[in-house]
Amino acid sequence: MIEKDFISSNDLEYPTDGEIGWNAPSNIALIKYWGKHVDQIPANPSVSFTLSTCATNTSLRFEKLPEKSSFFSFDFMFEGKPKIEFKPKIVTFLERIEKYLPFLRSYHFVIDSSNSFPHSSGIASSASGMAALGLCFLEMERKANPEMTSTYFNQKASFIARLGSGSACRSIEGSLIQWGNTPSIDGSSDLFGIPYPFEVHENFKKFQDTILLVHKGQKTVSSTVGHGLMNGHPFAQSRFVQAHQNLEALHPIFKSGDLESFIKIVESEALTLHAMMMTSQPYFILMLPNTLEIINAIWAFRNKTKIPLCFTLDAGANVHVLYPESEKDKCMQFIQDELIVFCENQHYICDRIGSGAKQFL
Ligand code: PMV
Repeated sequence: MIEKDFISSNDLEYPTDGEIGWNAPSNIALIKYWGKHVDQIPANPSVSFTLSTCATNTSLRFEKLPEKSSFFSFDFMFEGKPKIEFKPKIVTFLERIEKYLPFLRSYHFVIDSSNSFPHSSGIASSASGMAALGLCFLEMERKANPEMTSTYFNQKASFIARLGSGSACRSIEGSLIQWGNTPSIDGSSDLFGIPYPFEVHENFKKFQDTILLVHKGQKTVSSTVGHGLMNGHPFAQSRFVQAHQNLEALHPIFKSGDLESFIKIVESEALTLHAMMMTSQPYFILMLPNTLEIINAIWAFRNKTKIPLCFTLDAGANVHVLYPESEKDKCMQFIQDELIVFCENQHYICDRIGSGAKQFL
């Protein structure tokens, strides 16, 4: 599929009014996307677990306007209340996707969004939020073109979500999603995420992700700025090569269920992401002292018990603790006894690998 395959045909008849609702999950990258070209074309491939509990519910009411408008006509509500601060981001999103969904200026929309996780938890809502909104708009196209295949629907939903926020393209399907062109995966694309196409061992099928909320506020440097700092970064080229290599190294690991090797790659990816931040110009640090306390406690616990529990980080101070379901009781005990003291107000979220977005309206 290439970009022009996602441009809708001109002769579709869209419904005059209606309501659509989609729930889209968040995701956590194992191989990190950090560095991009225009329109969220990633500088390197990534792979992620789709999550389940952390998700955004978005409903979209639409009503045809008497004539096409010169601007995008919409109201945005967050948890039932108008939220005008979010509107500029949505306008940018609509401008980017209009070429592929040409009906957007012909309607008035009421968008109502809510997150399943507490807002200001420091958990990125842009992936699930942009995925849910993109799915709602694409559902309008599907109403006009019911023959659309589910493969095309998922790829175009991912393509559209990517234009809202890069990692959002990995929030359409489950449970292991790969995004970004790479020689080791036929069909991989910079334009959209695909379900990881090779065999995955039972060990990874029900992975758990306990998200430790070390810092619930706004992060000091946004992902957009961080991605931008990979331009001209002294280590960028070797980092991009390493991401391809790490992804290739994961293929036999996913197949065999080798958790020890999995951990080495996943933790190294997390630390490399933060190392890129610490070595950019200007440099910055998003980890906090408690992030490091947690990492050290995880290493000590793993050394002592040999339980295959590991961590990953996104662009912030919070820690995702990953472990197989078979070790859930022991890991949860450890988290409660030793890790939650490092969380803001002892808050954490129990999540697990999930099966992708779901339509509810
Ligand atoms: O989608 P963005 O622009 O918020 O970037 C996400 C970047 C990381 O979360 C740090 C890594 C990733 O692959 O999700």
